Amino acid sequence: PQVQSFDLVIFGGTGDLAARKLLPAMFHRFVDGQIPENSRIIGIAREATDDAGYREQMRKALNAEGPKAEKVDAFLKQVFYRSLDARKDAGWDDFAALMAERPDNVRVFYLSTSPDLFIDICTRLGSHRLNEGASRVVLEKPIGRDLQSANQINDAVGQVFNESQTYRIDHYLGKETVQNLLALRFGNALFEPLWNAEHIDHVQITVAETLGVGNRAAYYNRAGALRDMVQNHILQLVCMVAMEPPASLSPDAVRDEKLKVLRSLRPIDASNAAHLTVRGQYRAGAAEGQGVPGYLEELGDKSDTETFVALKTEIANWRWAGVPFYLRTGKRLPERVSEIVVAFKSVPHSIFDASAGAIANNRLVLRLQPDEGVKLWLTIKHPGPGGLRLRHVPLDMSFAEAFGVSQPDAYERLLLDVVRGNPTLFMRRDEVEAAWLWADPILDAWACSGESPKPYTAGTWGPSASVALIERDGRTWNDGGE
Ligand code: BG6
Repeated sequence: PQVQSFDLVIFGGTGDLAARKLLPAMFHRFVDGQIPENSRIIGIAREATDDAGYREQMRKALNAEGPKAEKVDAFLKQVFYRSLDARKDAGWDDFAALMAERPDNVRVFYLSTSPDLFIDICTRLGSHRLNEGASRVVLEKPIGRDLQSANQINDAVGQVFNESQTYRIDHYLGKETVQNLLALRFGNALFEPLWNAEHIDHVQITVAETLGVGNRAAYYNRAGALRDMVQNHILQLVCMVAMEPPASLSPDAVRDEKLKVLRSLRPIDASNAAHLTVRGQYRAGAAEGQGVPGYLEELGDKSDTETFVALKTEIANWRWAGVPFYLRTGKRLPERVSEIVVAFKSVPHSIFDASAGAIANNRLVLRLQPDEGVKLWLTIKHPGPGGLRLRHVPLDMSFAEAFGVSQPDAYERLLLDVVRGNPTLFMRRDEVEAAWLWADPILDAWACSGESPKPYTAGTWGPSASVALIERDGRTWNDGGE
């Protein structure tokens, strides 16, 4: 079904996210007939171009082929551009006039800029009264760079938009497999009785990328992997795995439960960071068979920013006490894979002879990308008459095979949720605060330690200390797509 007509205004309209994700997401919804005719997508940036110039940039970004290519022109007719500097007055009246042409459209202001500009943009939206009526603001992560700056941003945005108009996006929550965690956990009687410290040995979450930082070095160098990925995406995954069953799927019921998880994360600070965290930075190496430069070469400067982080945390509550959560993410790792592994405890007693081979523990692997799906690793008997030999094999469900459809990109779902006014899959202010409250002491501990991140060769699984982090507990990372 179509949504109400809307104007999606993208601040940072010429940026990486707009070209790589936001415009393509809107285009796919357009091809599926979900964008009402009267709707507009308005790119805003400092670059001095016009509608025609912007449409050409976006045509390249869409890179559409086949039958989709025929729809590009029609789509681009709904795309506009205004050049503005968020910190200067010039151009704002003209932009406000453009918005006034479609007074009945839902207005969505997507702030895909550096968080430093959020306050200026919101203040000016307010002074042009663009925050009134059916208006919403979308804040791209990271919201600030620590709790204090996040509070400043949230306070300033809050002067102009109230909490119900504010959508803090974390696109991981829009991924199909992440939403599927709700269905899997709460739509099956099978898992929930086992979903606790009594039966689960540990949980591991990996978000590995093969890409380097490329042309985002200026942003990335101020962020690093903990701020860019862990404080938001990975903690949100932790919440979806660990939260208690919400009373309903209403936005606040779900977010209340996630908040409790964030508030239960065991603190990591200067007293234990050296033991519980590993930071890495890639050196020159290889990615997908090609030689690639190191982070410092890409940046063209010295830097102690981490491009890899692995850490061990725990959720200090009744359900999870004593269950380690191992989290890791990095750029320039050997493969692009995001997955959640729930590793169950071993059987209490083995009745098999040593010649049968070892009983491997059950693992539930939720593959977020690529090849979205669920695998449940079981121990079975190897077929044949040669005695009883145990094997570890998966019950394997690939979403693509099971449903025969490709998964929509997370942004497609989330952008239309904003238009519909559904905040379930967006972060509430208190969640962002709780996440920073946990992340800040880690960042402080690293800064005070004076240590540089450990080097790793591009195309490897990060510094060897990451392997040691889990192996010293007698466990291993689930490398190699098992
Ligand atoms: C973004 C980070 O939020 O997520 C990027 O800023 C990262 O550094 C990206 O590459 C990963 O998203 P996805 O959907 O490709 O896993």
